[in-house]
Amino acid sequence: MSTATPSIDVVLSPPEIDLLPQRDLVGTIAVAFDVLRATSTMITALAHGAAGIWPVRTIEEAWALKAKRPDALLGGERHGDRIGGFDLGNSPLEYGENVRGREIISTTTNGTIALRAVEHAAAVLASSLLNNGAVAAHLDSQHGHDILLVCAGTFREAALEDILAAGMLISLLPGRALTDSAQLALALYQREEGDLRAALHRARNGRALLAKGRQKEVDWCAKPSRYPLVARMDPHGFVQALPPKPSD
Ligand code: MLT
Repeated sequence: MSTATPSIDVVLSPPEIDLLPQRDLVGTIAVAFDVLRATSTMITALAHGAAGIWPVRTIEEAWALKAKRPDALLGGERHGDRIGGFDLGNSPLEYGENVRGREIISTTTNGTIALRAVEHAAAVLASSLLNNGAVAAHLDSQHGHDILLVCAGTFREAALEDILAAGMLISLLPGRALTDSAQLALALYQREEGDLRAALHRARNGRALLAKGRQKEVDWCAKPSRYPLVARMDPHGFVQALPPKPSD
């Protein structure tokens, strides 16, 4: 924990994510965003009572973990589609009552990589437009920590929707020192906040999903602060909803 004004930094794209395992994050809370769709899907699953999610980097890791946890569901995507032999894809709309009480092993192209890249941080949260409000309230109570927002991106490129969600979270956390990338994210959010859905429709990922007839998923992910839920990854790599505070 630093004695200086706590700062917010933003990692904007996958090439920067590659460097995070070497970065000192001892006093830093990391928040990963993959709005379309990995973290939105995780938040939706937890909101429907999933016991938790194991984000893993590769399909091989997913099967290896499944061998140890045979009751877990396998979820995720490659090129946006369900992986052969898996129970679920990566659409938030697939994660309803069917996941209540279940553990889910998930591997996705960018989102699960982003979460695992910061597993050495003081705390790791998964966020999205759907739960940014609750995450902001949680971070507000964690005074003194620097915050690193990790935008998962698309393949090797930055994704507008992730930077937008990072900017929204920054807008909810006034009074912190902002790096240049954090100022960029905030400026993007301030430009787009009047119509987040339209911004997601314009983004590369949004356009790709719309072209596949998946508008409902994009619109689902565009709804700000739908769930009062904070999702934290523990040191074993298991993402669970934090119990609500008595005042919530
Ligand atoms: C990812 O992790 O790259 C994404 O969530 C891809 C997607 O399912 O849209």
